[in-house]
Amino acid sequence: MDTKQFWTSETQMYFERKKIIKAFGNKIIDEDGKEYLDLNSGTWNTILGYGRKEYAIEINKQLSQFEYIPNIRFQHSAGELLADQLLRYLPNDFKHVFFTSGGAEAVETSIKLARGHFYSKNKGNKRRVISLYESYHGSTLGAMSASGDPWDRIPFDPLLKDTLKIYPQYCYKCRMGLSKSVCHYACLKDLEYQINFYGAENICALILEPIMGVGGIIIPDNKWLQGVVDLCHKNNIIVIFDEISCGTGRTGFMFACQKYNIYPDMILFGKGISNGVQPLAGVIVTEKIYKTFLSQRRDRQFRHGFTNSGHPIACTCGSVTLNIIKNENLLDVVHQKEEVFKNILSDLKNKEYIGEIRIIGLMIAIELIDPKTNSDLNIPDFDIRLRNNGLIVSQMCQAICLMPSICTTEEEFKHGIDIICKSIEDYLYGRRIVANV
Ligand SMILES: Cc1ncc(COP(=O)(O)O)c(C=O)c1O
Repeated sequence: MDTKQFWTSETQMYFERKKIIKAFGNKIIDEDGKEYLDLNSGTWNTILGYGRKEYAIEINKQLSQFEYIPNIRFQHSAGELLADQLLRYLPNDFKHVFFTSGGAEAVETSIKLARGHFYSKNKGNKRRVISLYESYHGSTLGAMSASGDPWDRIPFDPLLKDTLKIYPQYCYKCRMGLSKSVCHYACLKDLEYQINFYGAENICALILEPIMGVGGIIIPDNKWLQGVVDLCHKNNIIVIFDEISCGTGRTGFMFACQKYNIYPDMILFGKGISNGVQPLAGVIVTEKIYKTFLSQRRDRQFRHGFTNSGHPIACTCGSVTLNIIKNENLLDVVHQKEEVFKNILSDLKNKEYIGEIRIIGLMIAIELIDPKTNSDLNIPDFDIRLRNNGLIVSQMCQAICLMPSICTTEEEFKHGIDIICKSIEDYLYGRRIVANV
């Protein structure tokens, strides 16, 4: 069989992909019997690890009733139950959930909701979207327009022209070249300047990841996040928190906004919600947003959806995930593991190739520096080297990102960190490492 008939992303251009035959816990086993320790939890989505039996049981129960129902015509209990379970974690203002199959679809949905909201209020000029440099919101054209990484988008320009970018609060590498002790939150001032420059009357929404994932686990402080939300609300700009990576328990809270106690107008979830068992994501909105679409006028209704939005099997999987998290007190477990992992990471601080380590819940970034030049250490294809050494994590240039599942043990984490350090030392000093997972 020609394995390249199955085409995904850019990988086939420069390395062969191994076929996986089994996965359980945090282990993945390929066709040659090689084991990998997955500290990336799939694509950051298998938050409970692989092989949870509960999904098959509940999926089969749902299948015995029906496998699919078009949401556009009928309701079903799987969707109602999951919406209710999600909303229970949030303040009362959040009242409705629009399900999608993937994160990018949720992002697209939220931008259309923001535009539609102002259209219905006769403020049709409010169309622009503000987002952050370094952000990632998905691979569709609209979501990519909101994302802040130039390399993903250059071949596809022009994207949506009505987006504009502000700096994230990335103090380790402040894009304004300032240090926190003297900056007086210049990045917030930049937002204010942009709003004034483009005119609040032309801006419908600001979308941000409360904790940036693909950008390299960038963790803002409360003051910055509150400042962004306040500035937007003062200017009648809808705030969208993209929690597709940082939600579903990653921070030890179901939603990252709970950790900050700062709330937007829409919350996007995805990835971990179905633990990778089925494609599932969605948008949670406040009553205020929902109500604008209750209209007899067709142009004011939210005429939007996908064949698989709110798919009953996917919603069933979402409920299984939330039940497991609740029944096994996994949000508390995330807090405990964060402390254990912090402790392990503290041993790295004195290594000459470590720039900064950031950890929040189960989101970890290790910034590498070249000891000779003191600048970023971007080891070519380091994630592939690590994979060859039996470890799966993400490499974002000089930042190595770990998104372990909740079931990752202290020993597994220690072992993964050991492989990372030895692989860096192999690259820097030519010490060979022997993989033993
Ligand atoms: C924050 C964020 N938003 C959106 C997406 C897109 O999600 P999907 O790949 O399910 O379309 C991702 C995926 O990595 C993400 O990390």
